[in-house]
Amino acid sequence: MSRLLITGGAGFIGGNFTRYWMRQHPEDRVVVLDALTYAGNLESLQDLESDPSWRFVHGDICDRELVEKLFREENIDRVVHFAAESHVDRSITGPDAFIRTNIEGTFSLLEVARAVWQERDDVRFLHVSTDEVYGSLDTQDAAFTETSPYRPNSPYSASKAASDHLVRAYFETYGLPVLTTNCSNNYGPYQFPEKLIPLVILNALEGKPLPVYGDGKNIRDWLFVEDHCTGIEAVLQNGKAGEVYNIGGGTERTNIEIVETLCSCLDRLVPASLSYREQIQFVTDRPGHDFRYAIDAGRIEARLGWKPAMDFETGIEQTIHWYLDHRDWCDRIRSGAYRDYYEQQYSQRTR
Ligand code: NAD
Ligand code: TYD
Repeated sequence: MSRLLITGGAGFIGGNFTRYWMRQHPEDRVVVLDALTYAGNLESLQDLESDPSWRFVHGDICDRELVEKLFREENIDRVVHFAAESHVDRSITGPDAFIRTNIEGTFSLLEVARAVWQERDDVRFLHVSTDEVYGSLDTQDAAFTETSPYRPNSPYSASKAASDHLVRAYFETYGLPVLTTNCSNNYGPYQFPEKLIPLVILNALEGKPLPVYGDGKNIRDWLFVEDHCTGIEAVLQNGKAGEVYNIGGGTERTNIEIVETLCSCLDRLVPASLSYREQIQFVTDRPGHDFRYAIDAGRIEARLGWKPAMDFETGIEQTIHWYLDHRDWCDRIRSGAYRDYYEQQYSQRTR
C-alpha cells in the first residue's frame, strides 16, 4: 500500500490522474493538495468525495509548514507533483505566479521531502514536467529525447526548466529518489477551456470565432490525458530513481489541422446551418511562439513497456462528447461559478 501526495490534483491532468489512480489502486491513501487557483476546480473530483481513502487539502505548495505537516501526518511515501501555473499565454502577460509556484513551489516540496524522508530509498518524488523545456524544433529536426538540450522560450517553459534542474540537483546532491517526466500536449476531459482544444469546441458551439494564432502551421504532439496517466503510473512504479522519461503520443498535428478536425467532427455530431470552419479566424501570433514540439518516447517504451492506448481521432471524438455532455461544468467554469463550490462544500467542514 502506498501513501500518495498529489499536488495540483484539482487541475486538468492531476484530476484525471487522481481519478485514474484511485480506480486502479483502491487500497492506496491519496492526499490531494491544491491551492484552487483559477485552474483548480474541486467539482472535477466530486465523485471521489465519499471515498474515505481520499483527502483534499486546500493549500499552497509554497507553504512549507503545511506541506511538512501533511508529510508527517499522512506518512507520505510517494509525491506526484502536478501543481503549476501551466498556461503559456498567461506566463507572457504575468510571469510572477509562474516563478513562484513552478520554481519556489517545487523547491519547497523538495526541501520537505529531503527533511522528512532523510536517506530513505523506499520513497519516490515524481515531478511532472513538459516537453516545452526543450524549446522549439524545425520541421526536419529529430524529436526531443531525454538528452536534448534545454532551450526554454517562454516564462512558463523557463520556470518548468528551472524546476526540472532543481529536481535533478536533489538527486545528484542529496540522493533524493526523484523521477521526472517530460510530456507533450495533453487533451481530454476536464481541461480548462482556455487551452486550444476545449476553447475551440466551446467557441464553435457558441457561434464565436475560433482563434488560430499566426498561420496555424505550428505543430504540437498530442497525447490523450489518460495515456499520460498510465505513463506516470509506469514511471512511479518501475522507473529508476534519478531518471528522466519523455512521454508523448507520436501524434504531430499543425494547429490548423487540429481546429479543422474538431470542426469536421462537430459538423457530424452537432450539424449547424454552416460548417463550423466558417468561424475560424487567424489572429496575431503569440510572441516567441514555439514552432514545433515532438517527443521521442523510445526510453519509456523500451524500459517500462509503456505505449499510448488511444488513437487521436477516437480521443478527439471522446473529448468532444465529454464537453457536449458536461455543458454545466463548462458554463460554471466560464462564469466563475465553480469557485463557489469549494465554499459551499467545505466552509462548514474540515477534512
Ligand atoms: P492545470 O493548470 O490544469 O492545473 C494546475 C493545478 O495546480 C490547479 O488545480 C491549480 O489550482 C494548482 N496550483 C497552482 N498553483 C498552486 C500552488 N501554488 N499550490 C498548490 N496548487 C497549485 O495544469 P495541467 O494542464 O493539469 O498540468 C499539470 C502539470 O502537468 C503541470 O506541471 C504542467 O506543467 C504539466 N504538463 C501539462 C501539459 C498539458 O498539456 N496540459 C503537458 C505536459 C506537462
Ligand atoms: P495551448 O493549448 O495554449 O498549449 P501550448 O501553448 O502549451 O502548446 O496551445 C496549443 C497550440 O495552439 C499553440 O501552438 C498555441 C495555439 N493556440 C491557438 O492557435 N489559438 C488559441 O486560442 C490557443 C489557446 C492556442
